[in-house]
Amino acid sequence: MEIFTAPQELRDYLRGRSGIGFVPTMGALHQGHASLIARARSECPMVVVSIFVNPLQFGPGEDLNRYPRSPEMDWQLCRAGGADVLFCPTAETLALSASMTQVVPPLSMTSVLCGRSRPGHFTGVSTIVVKLLEIVHPQRVYLGQKDGQQVAILRRVLADLHLEVDLRVCPTVRLPSGLAMSSRNQYLSAAELAIAPELYKGLQAARVAFDRGTMDPAKLIEAVQLHVAQFPALTVDYVELVDAISLSPLTELSLTTGILAILAIAAKIGSTRLIDNLLLPYASPT
Ligand code: PAJ
Repeated sequence: MEIFTAPQELRDYLRGRSGIGFVPTMGALHQGHASLIARARSECPMVVVSIFVNPLQFGPGEDLNRYPRSPEMDWQLCRAGGADVLFCPTAETLALSASMTQVVPPLSMTSVLCGRSRPGHFTGVSTIVVKLLEIVHPQRVYLGQKDGQQVAILRRVLADLHLEVDLRVCPTVRLPSGLAMSSRNQYLSAAELAIAPELYKGLQAARVAFDRGTMDPAKLIEAVQLHVAQFPALTVDYVELVDAISLSPLTELSLTTGILAILAIAAKIGSTRLIDNLLLPYASPT
């Protein structure tokens, strides 16, 4: 596995290669990231993974400085997963600055769900991902459905900017408890880790209601809220049901229209903010 920090050196190395699969990450890698690398490995002749804790997507007072970093373990996971290239740029090599050009996704997509409490977050994500794509020039980019809003926004950004890359979305990898794997799970104490799976259990309560024929979005949202309300350690930021492509809030759900919806939750446990979502009607993300 080759490791690069300088964008120009990576560009020179990749020049003329085709069939690149790209997995952008912020490190502190776990089995969720590994699943993206494995999918890229199975579909692409060359796999590039990037690790960069992107300051542009952290707001003031968020966890940029304490975001978990485990470079050696990350390298091992990438090597074991069969990555060909690891790109570990820095803010300097990427020429990040407060006055740089940024990619601003549509307000309609950034003013819902996580965007409401994290202004500027998806501009930071979109800016860095477009920058990385321009350096790596992959044929395919691999993202996780765990971050459903990020997927929808980046899909839109790629389309709006005519970026020629195929977006592949991979299902959320969970612990046996149901808790979605996340680098931020490392922040949780043992007691908090025991409560965290209730986010997913709340989503599952709505799934059960949906299975029994409940199609009213307000009722599905209520099913999640009623479940998580039993756990005072959880402070819910939002429970929302939105169109999976446009992220518009849905006022009705119909099996016949073929609309895919994201039922999403964000909640704080102590100072840790966790997110999770599921797709309704159930479909595997592609
Ligand atoms: P990060 O949180 O490191 O996640 C990198 C990729 O791994 C994202 O596409 C994310 O959705 C996916 N992922 C994380 N946990 C997962 C899980 N449990 N199952 C499946 N996939 C999972 O998302 C980012 O970094 C950044 O915003 C980034 C896109 C790299 C831009 O900085």
